[in-house]
Formats: sequence, C-alpha cells, structure tokens
Amino acid sequence: MRCVVRAPAKIILLGEHWVVHGSKAVAAAVGLYARALGQRAEQGIVVSSKNLGIVEDLTSCHRFCNLWEAAQYIAASVSRRPWPARIHIESDIPIGAGMGSSAAVAVAFSACYAMLGGIKPSLNLVLRAAYAAEKIVHGNPSGIDNTVSTIGGFVLYRRGENPIRLSNVSLKGTKLLIIDTGIPRSTKIAVDVFSTRLRALHGLGGSLLELMNKVVDEAITALREDDATKLGLLLDLSHGLLNAMGVSHEALETAIHIARRSGAYGAKLTGAGMGGTAIALVPSEKAGIISSLLKERGFRVFEVEIGVNGFTIQS
Ligand code: PMV
Repeated sequence: MRCVVRAPAKIILLGEHWVVHGSKAVAAAVGLYARALGQRAEQGIVVSSKNLGIVEDLTSCHRFCNLWEAAQYIAASVSRRPWPARIHIESDIPIGAGMGSSAAVAVAFSACYAMLGGIKPSLNLVLRAAYAAEKIVHGNPSGIDNTVSTIGGFVLYRRGENPIRLSNVSLKGTKLLIIDTGIPRSTKIAVDVFSTRLRALHGLGGSLLELMNKVVDEAITALREDDATKLGLLLDLSHGLLNAMGVSHEALETAIHIARRSGAYGAKLTGAGMGGTAIALVPSEKAGIISSLLKERGFRVFEVEIGVNGFTIQS
C-alpha cells in the first residue's frame, strides 16, 4: 500500500487585516504544492522532509509534533492506535510567506496517513486532522489555511463563521503572479499597526470596514462573471486602503507598480504586509514578460493558477 497526495498553498485575495475586525475576506488555493509520499511500515511513523533535511519518528517527535497530532487525530477517529508508516514530504511552497505551507503539508500528510491505515480521506477528516496539526504550529489559527488547502477553489470567510467555497467562479485566461519581496515581516506587528490606525479613525474605521465588505461582495460578483478587469480594479483599491493603513512597504510598492505598468489587471500586497508577498493578476499571455521584469529587479516570482482544486490523491 502506497500513497501520493498533493495539497495546494493559499493566498488571501482580498480582505486581509479587515477580516481581523469582522469584515469578509476571500482566499484562494493556488498552484504551488506540498506532497506526501507514503508507504506502510513495520514500526514507527517515520517522516522525512526533503526541504528541511530532517528525518524523524513522530512517536518521539521534535520538529513534526504537528504531524503527530494529525496522525493521532486520524487514528482516534476510527478508535484505533496510530499505525506505523513511512512518509516523505516535499514542498514548493515558500515557508513563512503567508501561503499556508504548514497547512498544505498537514493536509497532504493527513490524507496519505489515513490511506495507509485503510481509511478513506474524506474532506471532513482531512480538514479536522490538519487543523489539529495547525494548532500545534500556530496556537489558535483561524483555520482558513487548512480549509483552503483541503477544499480548494475560492473561499469566502469571516471570523467566527464557517468558510464557504464559492460556487460558479472562474478566471479564464489569467495567471496569478506571487511576488516574494524577501523582506521578513511579522504578522503580529502588522496587525498592531493596522489596528492602531483603525482605532484612531474612530467612526470612519467602521465605514471603511463596511466599504471593504462591499469591495469583497463586488469581487465575488467579478469572479462569478469571470471579469478579470473588474477584479483587478478591486485588488488595486484594496491595496490602496492597506497602504493607507500603514501595512505596505517600499519593496511591495515597487513590485506592484512594475506589475501594473506592464499590464497586470491589478496588484496588491497579500497577507500581513510590511514585507512578505504581493500578488498580481495578469493576462496569461503577459505572465512571462511581467514575471521577467520583476525577476530583473530581484524579486522571486511564482507564476501560478488560481482557484485550483484542494488536495488530490495521485496514487
Ligand atoms: O501573512 P499571513 O498569512 O500571516 O496573513 C495574515 C492575515 C491577517 O489578516 C493580517 C491576519 C489574520 O489573522 O487574518
């Protein structure tokens, strides 16, 4: 018995930061993947990571206690003790860039581990097992990363509510460029900067939150109408507001301006900001040239499909 499972990364399309204060956000699964390749074993649950160069038995875990948690969750769901396995993990997803790399690894691992125990990796089981793993890594995460990686597509979420996969959406003829500035950032500091400014705006802050809800609604309409031009405009608008709230960075601005003036539909920071990553929605035929221009300026660029499927079993 063997398993090969891949699970996608996520980006926040729009609504980051505002979502912390109660308005809506849309995230999407993107075509960068973590993979788990597993087989049954005689003893131990041995995980090897290509990217980290670590081999570890989860039963006395040190670095992969998140995956041990997922394995225990899956075994408990069928009232069994965790079973032995050997699972190799590899990932194309940049670590610490706000793209949900730990969640994608947890999703791929969970589906693979369930299969090795003869259990069908249902969406619900994988979602919950990966969330158990994410709690070890992030404390009390919103759950959006493991949700998007499990169910894929475009996902609407709001604090305290179940995420919803948007139906009937597509963005034909487009590519998403994920532009890594390489500038380290802290989500906590960025959330503080944003929240301080929001508080200082008093009542106006509430109006901006309502405005962002409308921007997200319009973006969903644009996705349903396959209207990349309109979505691009809304991405630009979202970025303008995030910039005004103090969470942009010179390097993000440079990347965004290069993308826009070379033909992107729209571009913005994604995730926490103050460094980290930007996204640009571009016509497929211009993806190559825009990406080269960005690389010339020293950015790392990933050219990906947006709204891809959630985890897939490849064997
Ligand atoms: O870059 P990340 O993945 O840490 O994204 C943070 C997104 C925020 O909206 C800024 C914070 C949050 O918890 O939603």
